[in-house]
Amino acid sequence: MKLSALDYLLCIHCMKPFVLLDGYATAPDSQEVITGKLHCNSCNRDYDVRGGVPRLVDESKSHQTDIETGQSFATAWKTFPRMDERYRQQFFDWISPVDPEFFRDKLVLECGCGKGRHAKIVSECGAKMIFAVDIGDAVEVAYQNTGHLPNVHIIQADIENMPFAPIFDMAFSLGVLHHMNSPVSGFLAMSKKLNDQGTICAWVYGRENNRWLIRFVNPARVAITSKLSPPLLKILAGLMALPVYLWAHLVAAPWTRMQEKMPALPSLFYQRYMTYIARFDFNEIHHIVYDHLSAPVANYVARHYFEDWFSEANLPNPVIRWHNQNSWTGISSHNPQILSDMHKRMEKLLATDAKAAALPSQSSRQ
Ligand SMILES: C[S@@+](CC[C@H](N)C(=O)[O-])C[C@H]1O[C@@H](n2cnc3c(N)ncnc32)[C@H](O)[C@@H]1O
Repeated sequence: MKLSALDYLLCIHCMKPFVLLDGYATAPDSQEVITGKLHCNSCNRDYDVRGGVPRLVDESKSHQTDIETGQSFATAWKTFPRMDERYRQQFFDWISPVDPEFFRDKLVLECGCGKGRHAKIVSECGAKMIFAVDIGDAVEVAYQNTGHLPNVHIIQADIENMPFAPIFDMAFSLGVLHHMNSPVSGFLAMSKKLNDQGTICAWVYGRENNRWLIRFVNPARVAITSKLSPPLLKILAGLMALPVYLWAHLVAAPWTRMQEKMPALPSLFYQRYMTYIARFDFNEIHHIVYDHLSAPVANYVARHYFEDWFSEANLPNPVIRWHNQNSWTGISSHNPQILSDMHKRMEKLLATDAKAAALPSQSSRQ
């Protein structure tokens, strides 16, 4: 933990500042606090700093399922901790039309940071600071990957109980809210940390086009695979990842290239997503399959519900993108200029890629 984090962190119970108690230990040759105690004078509570990370989860304030989800993902991130340079392209693809320049000098909040891959990218884009929050021990992997970066703070906290005032220029959450007990509550909690010009961006699994996952994979995940031991699950995910990897690389991606030359060719099942993941090696696809099998909770969000979240958060007229025809990215801002700019960029994007259409067909919506 960097000492500068103390200017921002608040007690999750009473929203008052902390003091760092004497006796803390720093890393050799740096000001990073590795172990110590944060004390709230107002409500007289203590919170640990452990492994360089402030531990600000109070289990009595969180949903039990969210705690379990955090534990499950922590195992996943510890199993697959590797950073990959292709994450940068993936990140900007998820949050498009937000671009790298958007982050310059901004105070940024990431909700559900996993192993810290996006915090690293945002740091490299010149953000003033990024606070990256995760409910589970994934923070330990995130700290290993980003603790050395001067503008990154890794914090263990629940999205629904984050230790901040409404100060952020930008808050984002990718692949997280749909794993929460109440995705909409997570979104609203996130939106409450924005300042009065703040921008929000979320990416969630869509309900549209994912009927097969909801019908077949979901029940198996809930009843069986999420309960398997991590080593067994890793083997099973590896076995299932092999055909996915081969299909993505040997069928979907070449088919998409052929379709570009011969648009009359029919589309294959889940082709856009399969083509998309063909950019990754086997290890990454293994991790993607592992995630799908291990998460205790996965909600699939219909577009109209997703849009409602923005209205509830008083962030109307969001830019909504149908990502890979199986998930939704939504962006809105309290700053009218930024919002209008995002809509213009989205129009340009649609002009160059009609398949990134904002609306799925009627048949894929059910
Ligand atoms: C699928 S991972 C995505 C991580 C990261 N956004 C990425 O794409 O690399 C979901 C992450 O959200 C975290 N998470 C789930 N529920 C949370 C909550 N209530 N508060 C904070 N983090 C949460 C999990 O621990 C997990 O690391």
